[in-house]
Amino acid sequence: AACDPSRTEDFVAGILDGSIRRIAVLAGAGLSVSAGIPDFRSSAGIYKNLAKFGVNASELERPEDLFCIEFFRENPEPFYAASAMLFAKDATKPTPSHFFLRLLHEKGLLRRVLTQNIDGLELAAGVPQSRVVQCHGGMTAATCTGCGRPADIALVNDAIQATAARMAAPGGGGASGAVVIPHCPACGGVVKPNITFFGEDLPPSFYRTLHHDFLHPSPAGDPDADPCDDGPIDALIVMGTSLQVAPVSSVPQLLPKDVRRLLLNMEPVGEIGSLPGDAVVLGDLDSSCAKLAEQLGWTSELEGLVRE
Ligand code: OAD
Repeated sequence: AACDPSRTEDFVAGILDGSIRRIAVLAGAGLSVSAGIPDFRSSAGIYKNLAKFGVNASELERPEDLFCIEFFRENPEPFYAASAMLFAKDATKPTPSHFFLRLLHEKGLLRRVLTQNIDGLELAAGVPQSRVVQCHGGMTAATCTGCGRPADIALVNDAIQATAARMAAPGGGGASGAVVIPHCPACGGVVKPNITFFGEDLPPSFYRTLHHDFLHPSPAGDPDADPCDDGPIDALIVMGTSLQVAPVSSVPQLLPKDVRRLLLNMEPVGEIGSLPGDAVVLGDLDSSCAKLAEQLGWTSELEGLVRE
């Protein structure tokens, strides 16, 4: 997939002339990298730097085991060690790319954001909850892997903070022995945040939106509907994802072939770029969003949101 500027110009023109009115966004870890949250598969990502994230790689068969439910049931330590490095920080600020999504919403163009990210930064940027589908869940609720009862997410957060404090203590460097595992007050089982691990089902909200937005959208013509809800999606923006993980990876193929697709990513992914309506912009996501905003005449509004 080559970067063909004329196709991006077509995409921008579509927004400006009103032929693109209902945009779906499919997002991944690349969206949050400039906020200081590493992605998974890049050279600086979690899977290639396990030791840096407090994980003893020899405990895993493959890096993905870190987020694999079967592995977690046997040994939750690597996940909680990595979590202390990843999630113990104070509130992270959304990136300019997150604010670009907010701007799409304010322009009445954003039908839905399907995000694989669990950091909640789309919401923090002001995209309303009703527009965001967290396909791989979030760190806002937890469940006991023993008895299956809902558990207080505070148990998870406290364990993560305690682990981070121990790791930071003099002589506490390294994960072994430092990891605090949260346990269920009812049965003593290990508690896990409700983020989707390999081997687990995605949340019902993902399948609902797949049905309502992608597979069986209601036809246009409902006078009571929000204009960007009235009728099928007419464009998809894929940003910051390697499209390596099913079933989210199949979303770009589910739309009719005449739906325009725009890839904003560091590298080419999937088969986006292969259809006549596709556009591809390779490079840093925040720069690509700033460039798009400029072409759309939205620069000062985007900058205003970023300064907010
Ligand atoms: P990946 O790490 O697989 O892919 C991130 C993509 O973003 C890569 O294609 C990068 O090139 C790109 N990228 C990184 N930084 C960027 C930047 N500044 N500008 C533009 N592009 C950038 O992350 P995901 O695709 O989100 O699931 O991974 C999907 C799932 O795999 C995750 O949700 C997680 C993981 O295992 C589970 O754990 C179940």
